[in-house]
Amino acid sequence: MRVVIQENYEKMCKWAADYIVAKINGHKEDRPFVLGLPTGSSPLGVYAELIRQNQAGKVTFKNVITFNMDEYVGLPHEHDQSYWYFMHDNFFNHIDIPAENINILNGMAEDPEEECARYEEKIAKCGGIDLFMGGIGVDGHLAFNEPYTSLTSRTGLRALTSETRLVNSRFFGNDPEKVPSLALSVGIGTVMDSKEVLVLINGHNKARALAKSVEGGVSQKWTCSALQMHNGAIIACDEAACGELTVDTYKYFLDIESKERL
Ligand code: GLP
Repeated sequence: MRVVIQENYEKMCKWAADYIVAKINGHKEDRPFVLGLPTGSSPLGVYAELIRQNQAGKVTFKNVITFNMDEYVGLPHEHDQSYWYFMHDNFFNHIDIPAENINILNGMAEDPEEECARYEEKIAKCGGIDLFMGGIGVDGHLAFNEPYTSLTSRTGLRALTSETRLVNSRFFGNDPEKVPSLALSVGIGTVMDSKEVLVLINGHNKARALAKSVEGGVSQKWTCSALQMHNGAIIACDEAACGELTVDTYKYFLDIESKERL
């Protein structure tokens, strides 16, 4: 696993956006680049930088297919807290991606199980995900895979914990009851099947989750810890999130990342 420590949130986002742009521009296969995407506040700076680079002509998304990580159950597209709305408002409406290349789980699907199976099939049909960008919750959840979700889970229906609903209530008028209790989410196994995974972890409130992701054992209690078993996992983080790492871990990654890469 790589852990790329940046001084602050802005630099973390710039690093992640540059990495994604380099991967899209370096994609040589004769099929579109398949990019997995998260919601939440962590990726906002990355989206802003990707928009900037797209509008500056440094990257095009015309040959990129996206799959989002998750969606609340019961929120229509036009609801300003649906992840469909979030992604269009913060990213898709500002770049040159064709609408038909955008994939987001439908939280209004009559048959959620069927919707999730369809999503997995579509990912496979596109040749799998080349790079999955993600964020994590304070309890280490990756997508909406709460603690104790199987580390081999596939896309499916998830119940949200009271803690996650409380944390996410900041977007729902600070009322946890207004946060949907169910979501559709890719599984940890789905993320692990991607060729590369790039997870953003920033801020003091994620310090424990970062330490568990990097130094703790692989455990379903911290679903993000599954990344230790991925051969192409990168965590991009800021200094603030490093507060719970041991000094030797922190120094190791600063040292190794300062070296020229093979
Ligand atoms: C939600 C999303 C996750 C996201 C997490 C962290 O629960 N389902 O995919 O990673 O929030 O959000 P933030 O980046 O706002 O801390």
